[in-house]
Amino acid sequence: MHWKQHVVTLEEFIIQRQLDFPFASGELSNLLRDIGYAAKVVHREVNKAGLVDAFMLTGVRTAPVMFLQGEDVKKLDVYANEHFIASLRAGRECAGVGSEENDDIIAFDDANSRNAQYVVLMDPLDGSSNIDVNVSIGTIFSIYRRQSNKGDLVRQEDFLQKGTEQVAAGYVIYGSSTMLVYTTGKGVNGFTLDPSIGEFCLSNPNIKTPDLGKVYSVNQGYYSKFPEGIRRFIDYCVEDDKDTKRPWSMRYIGSMVADIHRNLIKGGLFMYPPTTDAPSGKLRLLYECNPIAFIVEQAGGKATDGHQRILELQPTELHQRSPVYLGSSQQVEKAEAFLADFETRAAKEAANGKAGGPVSVKA
Ligand code: AHG
Repeated sequence: MHWKQHVVTLEEFIIQRQLDFPFASGELSNLLRDIGYAAKVVHREVNKAGLVDAFMLTGVRTAPVMFLQGEDVKKLDVYANEHFIASLRAGRECAGVGSEENDDIIAFDDANSRNAQYVVLMDPLDGSSNIDVNVSIGTIFSIYRRQSNKGDLVRQEDFLQKGTEQVAAGYVIYGSSTMLVYTTGKGVNGFTLDPSIGEFCLSNPNIKTPDLGKVYSVNQGYYSKFPEGIRRFIDYCVEDDKDTKRPWSMRYIGSMVADIHRNLIKGGLFMYPPTTDAPSGKLRLLYECNPIAFIVEQAGGKATDGHQRILELQPTELHQRSPVYLGSSQQVEKAEAFLADFETRAAKEAANGKAGGPVSVKA
């Protein structure tokens, strides 16, 4: 006889975790629940986006076409942004939002929100250029305690905090199934949306990432624009070596959430290094790097900007970018070693007025 195991929903899990903290007020739990609700609505819209836009484009209500083109795709970014902001505002546990989609912070001005203790930073629809080709996209969020006094409107300083100050962070991946993965600093847990009951159910408890994976994820098309250390590291990734499971497979979706999610579960390195065109890389420290770094570290991995722990970088601007290397610790450390080695060499050569020759970093 088969006994069906009781599934733990996201809400049940959040409540169970709250009970572990005798003095918890429930505000963070409510806020996480609000994010979970908003994610379900965005999931619904993501899934029907092809149909809706096909109707809008053709005016025909039969023979739906599944893919979108051009301008109409943008609507989903805007929708996700507005929906998350509206849900957080209505939930009253959030004093304000910083979004990758908005130039400035949004301070909620009603009495409840002014007295709320948390602010949320988010990238409401990351990888949005992938929507029109039906590839996985995601939402990334991060929660901080405000620094300003309750009762006041939140200020930019409330959002410009180091990643180490995050109270919680997570992502939603709208993929072959929709999943919500989050941490409050006590491990990482993953929930899969069961559309038949409309609930996120605990599917991946206590996620741990392997120390060494078989994958590296980078936009290798920029090879010639990367620093020399990274070019040589990429050469290292594809060399043959049994001990380190090389050559590693290159996997790059172009949706950070999807690339990270795969590597988190299976092991691997994700990187977005500086390029000659973008000296700080492309990814945003507050909306992308910090929340993902918090999750990766909580799963046992590493996250750096090539030199320093991502979570210890002091943000100075809302939309500041940072190079990022994160995932399985051994792979991140190796990338850092290549960078350091070539930077040291370049500095020595510059001091001696010499051009550099080939070098090797020990495997
Ligand atoms: P966007 O939301 O504008 O599509 O950006 C996606 C982000 C991130 O999710 C992804 O890893 C990276 O940009 C891809 O950038 P490249 O195309 O430069 O590789």
